[in-house]
Amino acid sequence: MKSLRDRATMNNANEFKLGLFGANCSSGRAVTLVPERWTGGWADNLKMAKLSDEAGLDFLLPIARWKGYGGDTDYQGATLETITWAAGLLASTKRITVFGTVHAPLFHPVIAAKQFVTCDQIGEGRFGLNVVIGWNEDEFDMFGVKQRDHEDRYVYGQEWVEAVKMMWSDKEDFAFDGKFIKLNAVRSKPKPYGGSRPLLMNAGASPVGREFALRNCDAFFTSAPKDSLEALTAHVQAVKTEARQYNRDIDVYTVGVVTCRATKADAEDYYRHCIIDNADWSAVDSILAKRKITAETVGADEFAARRKHQANGMGGLPIVGDPDSVAQQLAHLYKGGMRGVGLSFINYNAELPFFCDEILPRLERMGLRAPRKAAA
Ligand SMILES: Cc1cc2nc3c(=O)[nH]c(=O)nc-3n(C[C@H](O)[C@H](O)[C@H](O)COP(=O)(O)O)c2cc1C
Repeated sequence: MKSLRDRATMNNANEFKLGLFGANCSSGRAVTLVPERWTGGWADNLKMAKLSDEAGLDFLLPIARWKGYGGDTDYQGATLETITWAAGLLASTKRITVFGTVHAPLFHPVIAAKQFVTCDQIGEGRFGLNVVIGWNEDEFDMFGVKQRDHEDRYVYGQEWVEAVKMMWSDKEDFAFDGKFIKLNAVRSKPKPYGGSRPLLMNAGASPVGREFALRNCDAFFTSAPKDSLEALTAHVQAVKTEARQYNRDIDVYTVGVVTCRATKADAEDYYRHCIIDNADWSAVDSILAKRKITAETVGADEFAARRKHQANGMGGLPIVGDPDSVAQQLAHLYKGGMRGVGLSFINYNAELPFFCDEILPRLERMGLRAPRKAAA
């Protein structure tokens, strides 16, 4: 048996969960020209997953991206499809939770539910699902699918999640008669591993997106206010309080972009080298243009600020410093109530060994993570 609680703890006693975000995409989450930027290829992903699994990290979260952002590097132009990526990685690892990320309007729910179950069986209950309702218009154009208006997207998403959950349950030969989704005499076997269902997460940012996440999901990814611990705590608590309206004890996560080096000066130099001096500015502008953010729409000052922020891993919290400082910055998130963080690096495999050797023992000493043998 595997309970939903086991799944939410990612089968270990780590209080603060650490995962990697975006490794299935070329360049990962760093909009940079530096030649050591992440390839996103399978060999590197497999190595990354094995390193992470052996080091005791908790989860891997991919990005569902169908079309790159262009620029000099075609940022995130080559991406491994996330469900097949998860299947391969679950077969090659022992402990780590691996998410798939799926655009609900692009995956028929009957096929999707069975793909998720297949991954979950392969991983013996270590599969999780990031449900994406829709974002980049041009990706949908490529499929010949017109995005619904923003509210209806989430009505559709609600039906999709309910249909998938029904297929994961013991119901048999059921009909689903939604506004958008209509299914007849549905049978879906086998079921997810161990008598529970995969963890669900979402990162909706709009009010309706957030409501969808809190109503349906076990984990909610949100931004972390950068200033005080009070602001961070209030932000996290507001999410948790809102989730209780839907009878959910939701885990709140965020995303961070790590540059950790032996000294503060080295970390800051490398960060500047990758994210400022060698940013792929044409890709940054293309990302912002998709969100209708240009000097004309938001004004020159705001545009300059957004541009600077966007090169940095497309909007994650920059965590830059020596090991003591990086550990402290992660502990700050934990103290503010965050359950965990999805991290990215310029090159995951080059930077992970130093990160794991230096940061994990510090977090263990602070009581944020179980000693690694016990985490197994
Ligand atoms: C951690 C995280 C992961 C996300 N993953 C994806 C993704 O893989 N593909 C995608 O198109 N959008 C992704 N998004 C975008 C969100 O799902 C969501 O559409 C976006 O934040 C806009 O919110 P809204 O739909 O409520 O307007 C992600 C956002 C975050 C913060």
